[in-house]
Amino acid sequence: MSVTIRPERAGDQSAIRNLVSAAFAGTPHSDGSEPDIVDALRADGDLAISLVAQEGLDIVGHAAFSPVSIADGSAGWYGLGPVAVAPERQRRGIGAALIERGIAMLHERGAAGCVVLGDPAYYNRFGFAHDPALAYPGPPPEYFQRLVIGGGAPRGIVTYAPAFG
Ligand SMILES: CC(C)(COP(=O)(O)OP(=O)(O)OC[C@H]1O[C@@H](n2cnc3c(N)ncnc32)[C@H](O)[C@@H]1OP(=O)(O)O)[C@@H](O)C(=O)NCCC(=O)NCCS
Repeated sequence: MSVTIRPERAGDQSAIRNLVSAAFAGTPHSDGSEPDIVDALRADGDLAISLVAQEGLDIVGHAAFSPVSIADGSAGWYGLGPVAVAPERQRRGIGAALIERGIAMLHERGAAGCVVLGDPAYYNRFGFAHDPALAYPGPPPEYFQRLVIGGGAPRGIVTYAPAFG
């Protein structure tokens, strides 16, 4: 069955929540907060891009993009995440399709760039790279990566939307 990538629409919310919960269950880097983060981003008006992967009637993937702020005042930057694919549907390119569509939408809306916190082995295929000038305190620095879309490379500490806590 083919997979369609499309924006979230009314009525998807509980399926997205279940999917995100299932995808992160048991992953070592998760504290189980990801479904709440997606819901809080939506409630706060910070779910700038919310894409689902639909297979038949099932939602099997989701990617969220939300605005971030950067200490140097750079505007138009977003954060990618959480990204989730149903455990039984992983490694079939669904995550990549969601991320690529989201990056294309960021280009369309004239975004300056996007950051992501995650495994460089996965995200560098989309053009994300670590820049020591851009910091997210806490995790190992190389896990924080950025993709410049338009304009220059920003500097300083990055702050995610309040939903991330
Ligand atoms: C990360 C995730 C979204 C990727 O989705 P996916 O549909 O399985 O990914 P794709 O099919 O597009 O890509 C698969 C490729 O990515 C690699 N990959 C998948 N997850 C990876 C990870 N966490 N770290 C490194 N590589 C990873 C696979 O090895 C595979 O590479 P290969 O094709 O060279 O073998 C999915 O594995 C998932 O939901 N994981 C649990 C939640 C999570 O950790 N999300 C990311 C943090 S926000």
